[in-house]
Amino acid sequence: MSKTKKIKSISDYNGYDYKKIFWEDADRKYEDAADRIAVRRLLPERMDNFADIAGGYGRLADEYLPRSKKATLFDFSQTELDQAKEKYGKKLNTVQGDIYNLPFKDGELTTLLMVRATHHFKDIDKVLKELYRVLAPGGTAVIEVANKRTLPRIIRYWTGKTKISPFTHTVANLSEIDKDGFFNYHPKYIEDLFKKTGFKIDKVLSVSNFRSARLKKIFGNKNLIKMEKSAQKILAPVRFAPSIYYRLTKPQVK
Ligand SMILES: C[S@@+](CC[C@H](N)C(=O)[O-])C[C@H]1O[C@@H](n2cnc3c(N)ncnc32)[C@H](O)[C@@H]1O
Repeated sequence: MSKTKKIKSISDYNGYDYKKIFWEDADRKYEDAADRIAVRRLLPERMDNFADIAGGYGRLADEYLPRSKKATLFDFSQTELDQAKEKYGKKLNTVQGDIYNLPFKDGELTTLLMVRATHHFKDIDKVLKELYRVLAPGGTAVIEVANKRTLPRIIRYWTGKTKISPFTHTVANLSEIDKDGFFNYHPKYIEDLFKKTGFKIDKVLSVSNFRSARLKKIFGNKNLIKMEKSAQKILAPVRFAPSIYYRLTKPQVK
């Protein structure tokens, strides 16, 4: 048994070609563009000490490198960090570790980003506490959250196709997608948790609003991306999209 298998809380991407299998071989140009639009909108223009947490192979590095004095890609998977190193070399520091014990000092980072990772975390409250700890007072965290209350799920629930209520605030574990756990959150639940952890919610975007194979076929990626651009802000108040992006700040110490 490999060493990593003993650590239950980790979704192990070592040896898995996430870049090729998930992004390149599948038609996910629209989802990638939707993430990029949101990240561009939410990250500060200038960042002193930035980290992409659970950042995989650095898919979004082109978005943050031009804005960062120092940028670090943090992930558990050495496979992915190696891919990033090959592409970006010295421009991007890579650090391997477990999110539950981040190898950063208290208040070390001025900005952090975490995209498409919350669904892996059984103990999201512990993860948020760690992110809060490593962020400097006055710092910014941009966090994408896997939403349980999406429009398709509401329809599936109302038509009896699923018993999982999208309306309850309990965390949904969609273990049929991943047997190790695939956690989705109600917006109210996660927003309360952000506040309880100490974060202030500064801005919210509704992202990947048109994530559907049928819509891709009807409209094509180019048109969907255009629609996505306008929808992210307009639809933010209803929070029905599969990805909800939050820009959070850690208050300054008085
Ligand atoms: C779906 S990928 C997202 C990668 C990247 N943020 C992106 O959007 O392309 C999830 C990432 O979380 C990482 N991960 C999962 N559990 C982790 C843990 N406990 N500590 C650090 N990274 C973890 C995986 O290795 C993987 O790279």
